Amino acid sequence: MPARSKVPDAPAAAKATAPRPRARKPKPPKAAIIAVANQKGGVAKTTSVASLGAAFAELGKRVLLVDLDAQACLTFSLGVDPDAVEESIHHVLLGQADLDDVIVTCADGVDLVPSTIDLAGTEGALLGRPAREYVLQQVLAEVRDDYDVILLDCSPSLGVLTLNALTAATGVLIPMPCEMLSHRGVGQLLDTIADVKKFLNKRLIVLGVLPTLYDGRSSHARAVLADVGERYGLDVLEPPIPKTVRFAEAPGVGRSILATARTSKGAKAYRAVAQSLLPRL
Ligand SMILES: Nc1ncnc2c1ncn2[C@@H]1O[C@H](COP(=O)(O)OP(=O)(O)O)[C@@H](O)[C@H]1O
Ligand SMILES: [Mg+2]
Repeated sequence: MPARSKVPDAPAAAKATAPRPRARKPKPPKAAIIAVANQKGGVAKTTSVASLGAAFAELGKRVLLVDLDAQACLTFSLGVDPDAVEESIHHVLLGQADLDDVIVTCADGVDLVPSTIDLAGTEGALLGRPAREYVLQQVLAEVRDDYDVILLDCSPSLGVLTLNALTAATGVLIPMPCEMLSHRGVGQLLDTIADVKKFLNKRLIVLGVLPTLYDGRSSHARAVLADVGERYGLDVLEPPIPKTVRFAEAPGVGRSILATARTSKGAKAYRAVAQSLLPRL
């Protein structure tokens, strides 16, 4: 019989007091930060941020949306008049205001960091600063424990603000209308993302392309959709967001399409995309 089996069992009391690794309280996970980026305008970045934000809020998530475009379309579309905003993301990025003080709560159940036309001057002001690409990351670190998802609405450029967004982000989502799809444009954006991963944010994950303004009746749109995923090795998120006039109506009343047309195909598509993203955040 092996010697080991002759050793008597330790008394139960001794077992209970034996040293064990300290039990740590599980910390709630920090917010996932998703940059919604494409250097082309009119591809539904802002619409996707507003709609996915409302969809995540419906799923019980605490959501913060950040308007990073001087045109302030997201701010306006969530019912905030940019002209009436005194302190915005511009002031926060330049260290002239605290993030907590500029956040507003919107009717869609999401919080917003508003933008104003002041943001047009932010890039210039940041240019001379060291570590200028890390400013947003640092600013968001203050509130990451307070939210589950933070969505960044990028401007139509690959400038310093978009680099800040990609540096702060844990994932990037690329909205892309099938008809307007420019392969050169996708390549440029992917090159920038590759540079960001190499130099600024190694952990950045490309969540995929989100097909927008999708006309399912068009065989061209379907073919383009199949091609882009294969050509660039990108995930194509599903379902595609259908083109519908409902989207044009929503921003005028300061709510997303999820509130103004609850059961429309577009609202359902954004809900499905938000649901599919949840396990990847
Ligand atoms: N699925 C859609 N169907 C119809 N119109 C849409 C759809 N998504 C966005 N739009 C409209 O397209 C325009 C550009 O969208 P926007 O979200 O502002 O793009 P970006 O932020 O990329 O410039 C807006 O007028 C918006 O209402
Ligand atoms: Mg926009």
